[in-house]
Amino acid sequence: MFGQSAVRLEPWSKDDLALLQKLMGDAAMTKHLGGPESLDKIVERQTRYERLAESGNGRMFKIVDKATGEPMGSVGYWERVWRGEDVYEIGWSVLVGFQGRGIAGSATAEAISTLRPEAKHRFLHAFPSIDNAPSNAICRKLGFTRLEECDFEFPPGNLMHCNDWQLDLFASV
Ligand SMILES: CC(C)(COP(=O)(O)OP(=O)(O)OC[C@H]1O[C@@H](n2cnc3c(N)ncnc32)[C@H](O)[C@@H]1OP(=O)(O)O)[C@@H](O)C(=O)NCCC(=O)NCCS
Repeated sequence: MFGQSAVRLEPWSKDDLALLQKLMGDAAMTKHLGGPESLDKIVERQTRYERLAESGNGRMFKIVDKATGEPMGSVGYWERVWRGEDVYEIGWSVLVGFQGRGIAGSATAEAISTLRPEAKHRFLHAFPSIDNAPSNAICRKLGFTRLEECDFEFPPGNLMHCNDWQLDLFASV
């Protein structure tokens, strides 16, 4: 399913605040992400997402249904320091009504295809909670290697117990 994509990625825009509220302001959607964010935090996040591409440190995308143009979620990557090294981190989120159809897997595969040719750092990491079965399945399916379990702060102030998954962006595909 990850091969035949029903999704299109569009750069995150100033018009996407309502989508972000559905993704980050909802209890079910943030069960593995420390709970719903306040509107103030979501507005701050919206500004970060809008500016990420121009910063040169990553990209955030809206996941759109290719057939209808309907927004379905988000996927994006950004630079971070992890264990003393510059790496990329990737994250994804798909609205409840669109889950279970391979959307997150397809969108994440597309985001990685965008990152590979422009990557300045060799490794891409993902840090799903150990209880987030679909996200861990996506990492496994997209060829990430599970390094270890770790405690990871997301959002600031909330400690999550996660798997540290790593993908080599410089390996031939
Ligand atoms: C995690 C999330 C993005 C998955 O979205 P999705 O579009 O439903 O994911 P996909 O349909 O691509 O499915 C991913 C894989 O997980 C598998 N999966 C789903 N539920 C599972 C479960 N309970 N146990 C094991 N595997 C499971 C699916 O079978 C699928 O694998 P397959 O393609 O081999 O069948 C979505 O649940 C979400 O947005 N959750 C809230 C936000 C979040 O937690 N984001 C992740 C932060 S790391």
